[in-house]
Amino acid sequence: MLTKKDLPLDGQRALVTGANSGIGAAIARSLAMAGAKVVVNYVVNEQAALTLIREIEAEGGQAIAVHADVSQEDQVQNMFQQMFDAWGSIDILVNNAGIQRDAAFLDMSLEQWDQVMNVNLTGQFLCAREAAREFVRRGVIPEISCAAGKIICISSVHEVIPWAGHVNYAASKGGVMLFMKSIAQELAHLKIRVNGIAPGAIKTPINKSAWETQEAEQQLLKLIPYERVGEPSDIGRATVWLASDDSDYVTGTSLFVDGGMTLYPGFREGG
Ligand code: BGC
Repeated sequence: MLTKKDLPLDGQRALVTGANSGIGAAIARSLAMAGAKVVVNYVVNEQAALTLIREIEAEGGQAIAVHADVSQEDQVQNMFQQMFDAWGSIDILVNNAGIQRDAAFLDMSLEQWDQVMNVNLTGQFLCAREAAREFVRRGVIPEISCAAGKIICISSVHEVIPWAGHVNYAASKGGVMLFMKSIAQELAHLKIRVNGIAPGAIKTPINKSAWETQEAEQQLLKLIPYERVGEPSDIGRATVWLASDDSDYVTGTSLFVDGGMTLYPGFREGG
């Protein structure tokens, strides 16, 4: 029989942005298996969101799909309203939606720059603000969690590793890191915890070209001391911990889940 300890998020309500593919889908699954009800946000490919919901339900979990482009204020507010209408409130926000629009710097268009900033950074602002307003309105419910709410910002190792050819992406993730820490500082006294997860190379559609052939994977593994490419479930498990009361004294931190990618592997023999 499953106990409360097996279900650390029992009775909690979570919203995961960009949850119909890749890391977001794994996070939604992990939260649901830990006992949370999950809003699966998507912007394209409704079918994938509905399939994920069926899978979660088949495992005994609860989830609903809500469409919204996280870079649009009215759509974000509408999404939160739909969640509140369905389940009354929110306990966990996972700001996951993110995109890459890669280009050499000299060729990068303003559109490529703006698209990445709007989704990866402005999207996190708009969703975190709605969640935080609700956490403050509702306050702590001790039977549910020690905290009034938890916000988890999915960033990247590129919040600290510069990335040529991807400057819009790296700049957005560096921004996510200081956004996360600044709101953690501002909201801690309200019993709101805000943390980040910085994934390394995880097998998802966003970086398929970096792992889909054996040659590409061998190249990639040179950057990963732990000698395996990450799986989306690696991030799902870390998210459950940061969302649960097991991490109650943790706020304003970036948890790197990267197989050691940020350990400067080139220095193992060099320097
Ligand atoms: C990027 C991936 C990349 C990984 C490690 C992630 O944030 O989205 O494309 O493989 O960082 O470089």
